[in-house]
Amino acid sequence: MLLTRKRRRAVIAGVVTVATAALGIGLSTQFASAQTTLRGAADELGIDIGVAVNDSLLQNNQAYRDLIAREFNSVTAENGMKMESVQPSQGSFNFSQGDRLVAFAQQNDMTVHGHTLVWHNQSPGWIQNLSGTAMRQAMENHITTTMNHWEGDVATWDVVNEVVSDSNGQMRDSFWLRAMGEDYIQWAFEAARAADPGADLYMNDYSIDGINAKSDRYYQMAQELVAQDLLDGMGFQAHLILGQVPGNMEQNLQRFVDLGLKVRITELDIRIEMPATQQELEQQAQDFQRVTEICAGLADCSGVTVWGVRDGDSWVPGVFPGYGAPLLFNDSNQPKPAYYGALEGLGGDGSEEPPTTEEPTTTPPPTGDGDCTAEIDVVNDWGSGWQGNVLITADSGAVNGWTLNWTWPSGQSITSSWNAQVSSSGSSVTASDVGWNANIAAGQTVNAWGFVGSGSSASPQVTCTAA
Ligand code: XIL
Repeated sequence: MLLTRKRRRAVIAGVVTVATAALGIGLSTQFASAQTTLRGAADELGIDIGVAVNDSLLQNNQAYRDLIAREFNSVTAENGMKMESVQPSQGSFNFSQGDRLVAFAQQNDMTVHGHTLVWHNQSPGWIQNLSGTAMRQAMENHITTTMNHWEGDVATWDVVNEVVSDSNGQMRDSFWLRAMGEDYIQWAFEAARAADPGADLYMNDYSIDGINAKSDRYYQMAQELVAQDLLDGMGFQAHLILGQVPGNMEQNLQRFVDLGLKVRITELDIRIEMPATQQELEQQAQDFQRVTEICAGLADCSGVTVWGVRDGDSWVPGVFPGYGAPLLFNDSNQPKPAYYGALEGLGGDGSEEPPTTEEPTTTPPPTGDGDCTAEIDVVNDWGSGWQGNVLITADSGAVNGWTLNWTWPSGQSITSSWNAQVSSSGSSVTASDVGWNANIAAGQTVNAWGFVGSGSSASPQVTCTAA
């Protein structure tokens, strides 16, 4: 049976008390250097180490599933529990993506953090056009039906996401606010509490990791909701930039804990301007260590969730042009220095030598005598657009530069791309390397570059020509 997070912490805490009392030693001595996976270390702390999961990779990629099962004890649907996925047209619910994730979590004894019920993005058009009263009914119905469906399976929910704007802590000017006024937040929490009284209810946002006007606004809202017993936790997304973990992050989270709330790092990634140097990857390790340390050190931090598994799976390059490499694993499923940093921060053994193959400039250029093949991997499809990653495999010889060609089947086009030079003419596309990603060792497959496409997603046949 799946342990809820509350029970997991209770069980672990019991063990710790008995063991430390009996042996008369401190926690740090007792657990020093024991754990060599993130999951092992987080289990010992009794907290979640979570990851955002991409539904199509979950279905199609065994290595991806194995890596998640080994390293994480909690999962969040990267897109599959958002409103546009769950209720694409009014009254017709589709739980298939979330059900797949819940099944995976139960097979692997993981918790599921629900994301998200009320958000201004990835909400279907139909709800955005309703009048105030009709929108309130539809919002409450969405919350009730979704939470009832996963009652007992999803123990924590981001009830509202990103409801405060970036300027002066004003409420975000969303279609929700415009139709219903500020009360919609309280109504959402009332519906959520009634739907599943056993679930922990969170607010969640970005740029509130440190103390600022935006996090102050949440602090004030949190006080009001706590007074009505409508709020259990505060989620800090932590989409961070290299070297910019806020100096007062711990203090900020602590003030929410002091309100009687749990806190959670919900969407951690730390982006680097590309291409990343070895030094930057080491800095990133320190940043990840700091964030996991903060959670590990707080009495009521329920866990840290990383927003994706491998760098190539991340949303970052598509949204922050020029930035990438924000996660813990590279595209060959190998841990980056950041992984060891995060492990160390959780009290595990992060001493392992980080792999050095990360640094493209230190790899001697191979002789480019090979042939190659390539395919487009559809990693995301949100209806109004989609994300493709392009996987290139070097055949029997090393590749030292590549050019790809394909033809779109039905009017697709590329809206933005990263890590390749792309040109299009009508439906035909040509893409070539950008230097630092030219070299592929014989027999190796790399997630070389990616793009955001318009129209419906497609995986046309790609011709790969090696230089
Ligand atoms: C992102 C996903 O990672 C992308 O795949 C999707 O295209 C857009 O949404 N804040 C959130 C998350 O709360 O839901 C967002 O996830 C990232 C920002």
